[in-house]
Parts: sequence; structure tokens; C-alpha cells
Amino acid sequence: MCGIIGYCGHRPAVPVLVEGLRRLEYRGYDSAGVGFLHTDGLRVIKAKGKLCELEKTLARENVLNATSGIGHTRWATHGEPNEANAHPHVDHTGRLAMIHNGIIENYQEIKQELQAKGVTFQSDTDTEVLLNLISHCLAEDGDMLQAMSRALGRVEGAYAIAVFDAENPGVVHAARVASPLVLGAGTGENFLASDIPAFLPYTRDVVFLEDGELVRMDASSWEVFRVEDLRPVEKMVDTITWDVQAAQKGGHKHFMIKEIFEQPKVIQDCLCGRLGTDLDEVRLPELDDLPGTPKRIHVVACGTSYHAGLWGMYLLEQWARIPVQVEIASEFRYRNPILDPDTLVIAISQSGETADTLAGIKLARSQGLKVLGLCNVVGSSVARESDAVLYTQAGPEISVASTKAMCSQLTALLLLALYWGHGNGNLDEKIHRDVVHGLRNLPDLLESTLPALRDKAHELARTFSDVNSFLYLGRGLHYPLALEGALKLKEISYIHAEGYAAGEMKHGPIALIDPKFPTFAIAPDDELFPKVKSNLVEVQARSGQIVALTNVGLDLDVPHRWDVPRATGPLSTFLALPALQLFAYEVADYLGKDVDQPRNLAKSVTVE
Ligand code: AGP
Repeated sequence: MCGIIGYCGHRPAVPVLVEGLRRLEYRGYDSAGVGFLHTDGLRVIKAKGKLCELEKTLARENVLNATSGIGHTRWATHGEPNEANAHPHVDHTGRLAMIHNGIIENYQEIKQELQAKGVTFQSDTDTEVLLNLISHCLAEDGDMLQAMSRALGRVEGAYAIAVFDAENPGVVHAARVASPLVLGAGTGENFLASDIPAFLPYTRDVVFLEDGELVRMDASSWEVFRVEDLRPVEKMVDTITWDVQAAQKGGHKHFMIKEIFEQPKVIQDCLCGRLGTDLDEVRLPELDDLPGTPKRIHVVACGTSYHAGLWGMYLLEQWARIPVQVEIASEFRYRNPILDPDTLVIAISQSGETADTLAGIKLARSQGLKVLGLCNVVGSSVARESDAVLYTQAGPEISVASTKAMCSQLTALLLLALYWGHGNGNLDEKIHRDVVHGLRNLPDLLESTLPALRDKAHELARTFSDVNSFLYLGRGLHYPLALEGALKLKEISYIHAEGYAAGEMKHGPIALIDPKFPTFAIAPDDELFPKVKSNLVEVQARSGQIVALTNVGLDLDVPHRWDVPRATGPLSTFLALPALQLFAYEVADYLGKDVDQPRNLAKSVTVE
């Protein structure tokens, strides 16, 4: 989720680069840097923290005569957020500088090959490895396009890169696979960026680059080639009509809807490097610092992260046969719990700064328990306070209502259940194989499903936007989803909503049912479907309105049936969750609410 910008033109490059990075700040970052040609050769200036830190350093330099260069804001995925790991990186010859957004899965093996050739490294990033591979190829080929094509042919994973060559300063080369990169075509100047806002004030003419494309750009021209064989590619120039605000949301109205639609990529990024393309096995080296498979697990979290933990409990118990307790952090921290020393505490937190969850970690560690942090922000307090960290790789989540972060948390929890279940032999091999296969296809399935989900949510929102209360029901794995669906609706539309285990209806909630108290049921094709169906018959007998998320072919006659595609076992969750998110979003948007910044809420609850 880093910010990338490259510039070749007639203006002083460094101010253009810094201003461009400022327009990408909303993406979240923890360090920044620029690379350009100075009178005494290649100059790379980097700083940990916000852009103002970088500007303090730049102010001490005479940087105004450079008219081309590259800039980067880093959202750390591997390697701590510090100056050494900040981009641009410089190759071992000191000639090339590069910026990168993405994850190179096979960088360790490439690093070993280069080290065997005498290359030394200054950082522990995958970026520096790729840069030195390009440098090594350039030394052999003598041509940057050839060198990049050959080097990138070795790479597995995701990247958007821009390379600056001190021996050819008026040119920037760039390439992308699975990370965004767009070219801004100006007059006497050209731009490259990870997102349009970076150069929108200078040009609205953009060229969207596709995976496997390589760009050569200078002040007066740009050319696109295929990475694999350097065949030229004809590209359309589009003209953007958005303003900067809309551009930051990728043309979406709100960050929340943009982030809901980022979920296919979030799943891909969370699986990247963990579900090897060669093996059907999950690899989680992050767990090496823990003493093996836990005998019992205690999950501690708040809000949406707590719902994710509840969902994970079902899989960890079913697949790995590890007893799991899930607890709201604000309760856990004050009840003086009796904890078994060989319990692993899993602290789930998107922000990594939630006060109650941090207090839960401190309590667990004070009793000698090991803690696994499951969080989205590298270097956050949860990450620093935990014995081991599994980063969820969702990228910065801007909207207060958590959506893609939960998707990434569920993906990480599912990987843990597969990993421990496969490791301790409790998971049936066929289930393991089927789920791994399903996981690989899930991003594409979700990508193709989201537009129809949104259309249906848009339609239902207009039917139910005037209700005062909503009951959400689910069983098993879908009970946590019922809780989450209710939370989403109430926190952004301010309509009261309650999530309930469907089996609890007779124990009280059914007294609420009447034509003005609708029920939203999660009723997919699983072994509990008949039970949920009978709950809904009871709701209908009392003239309750029903929206039911279900699957095509299931015998379920309800007023508002919402069919979603089937997926392997628990993977159906990843299709139901966005439906719940989209319904809440469409209701709140229809009611004109402040979707991204709901009243009274903060993105991270850093106080009690
Ligand atoms: C989710 O939509 C809410 N904004 C909130 O419940 C959030 O999940 C909770 O505050 C926990 O935050 P964390 O994941 O950053 O710890």
C-alpha cells in the first residue's frame, strides 16, 4: 500500500515528488524518501515518520536543479519502519535507485545467489534484493530494458517498481505485477504513480498500466513494453474527470466502499508468501518464535476484531482440535482470569493500538503466557508487545468502519487453523486440500461477485432504510457474522441492530418480531441450514420481514431472498461478509450519513 511517484520534466523534481507523496498520504505510511541526480551524482534522502521529517532533511540540501527523480512513502510489510528500510534503495554499485510497492515472495533465494556473487546488502527488505538483481543484469546486458525484463522474469510475487539510473538521469523505468501503477502524460513532463492523486494537479491524461507491463519514460515521451519479451504495447490515454478527493477514493464515493471492493486483493496479499504456489501447505515462519502448536488458545480483541476471533474459534476447534476461548478485551483485563501457562493468547487488532487489547496482552504476559499478535500495522504497539506477529496485510484502512481488515483477519485465522490442524494431524487431508484449492480461487470469485452484491444491497437498502431496528441471525460460523452485520449497520446508519445466535430465538428475541422488526438471516448451504430455516418459519409466522443471505437451489421461501455463490465450506464467509458490509453501507449512504467518519467513533480506540 506504499505511495510511489516518478517524475521527468522541466520543473524542479524534488518539490513535485514531495507534493505528490503528500497527495498519497491518505494511504498511510511510516517512512518516506526521494532519489534524484545531484551535482555530485545520485542522491537518496530518506526519513522515518511523516513527510515533514523528510522535508526537514531536504531543507538542508540544495535540491532544486534536479528535473527528474523518484519518491516513495512506505507502508511496512517486511522489516521495521526505519530509515534503513525506507525507499528508495540504492544498488551495491551506487548507480541505481529504486522504489517498490508489493511483496517479492522468492527474495530470499535471489538474495543468497547475489550474496554468493559478492553483493552486500544494507537493509532486510525484499526491495533491495530485486534492485540488486536488476543491477546485476544491467552489468551483464548493458541495457536497462533488457536488464529489467530478465530480472523481473525471475520474480514471484507482487510489485510496482520505479528505477532511476544516475548514468541516465532524465529517464525513469517502471513495471508492475499485482500492485497499482499509473502513468500521467503531461506536456513536456511525464509522471508515474501508484495512484492518480499524486499528479492530478499537473495532468488529467492517464495511462493505466496492466500487470506484466514495463515503462520507459522521459520528459517528452513514454513507451510501454511487455516485461516478458519487450514487445511494444499500444496504450489508451484516458482523461480523468475526478477531483483529488474522489481520486484518493479511486473514484468511489467513500473510503468504506473502496475498501470493501479491495477485499479480493486483501485476501491475495494475506496469502502471499504463506500459501506456496508449489506446495499445498501453509507456511507461517512468523510462528517460529512460538513454542510449537498451542495446547489451548485465548483470543482477546474488541469490536469487529472480536467478531473475527469468534469466527476463528470455530475453525481452530474443528480443524486443529485446539480448545479456544474468545473474550472481549475490556472484560478480560479486569476479571482476574485464571490462565493456564501453556495457553497461547492471540490478540487481534487492526490498528494495533486499541487500549483494552494492549492491556489484555500485558495481563497475559504478566502471567507468563506467550502472545501472538494478529494485526495490520507493522511496528504498532500490539506488534511490539507480542512474542510473535502475524501481519494481516490489509493495507491502510481509512474508513472508521472496519471491512477489509476483518476480511484479512479471517484469512489469517483460517491459515492458522489449516497450519496447526495439518501440523498436528487433526485436519482431514481432503478438507485441507479442498480448502487450499478454494482459497486460491477465492479472490477471483469474490471479485466477480461484488458488483451483484452491491446492486442487491442498494435495492434492499431502499426497502429497509426506515426501520428502527434489525435482528441479525446466524448459526455456527455465521453467528459471528450476525454480530458483525449488526455492528456495521448500527455504527454507520445509527439504526439499532442486534446480532443473535439463531438458536436463541425461543429464549427471548422472538418476542420482538412484528412487521416493523425485520430479521436479516445468514442461511448458507451448510449442515445448520435446516435449523436456521425453521427459525425463519417462526419469524414469518409472526409476520416478520426477512432478508436471507443464502445459496441458489436451497429451499427457502422468504420475502427478500439474497442468493450468493457457493464457496468451499467456511470460505462462504468471504462472500457473506461483504454482503453484510454493503447492506450497511447502502443504508447509511441512502440516509445521508457520514459513512467514513460516523458520529462519536474513532478509527482506533487508544483510550478506555
Ligand atoms: C469496527 O467497524 C469498529 N470501528 C471497531 O469495532 C473496531 O473493530 C474496534 O475498535 C477494534 O479496533 P482494532 O481492530 O484496531 O483493535
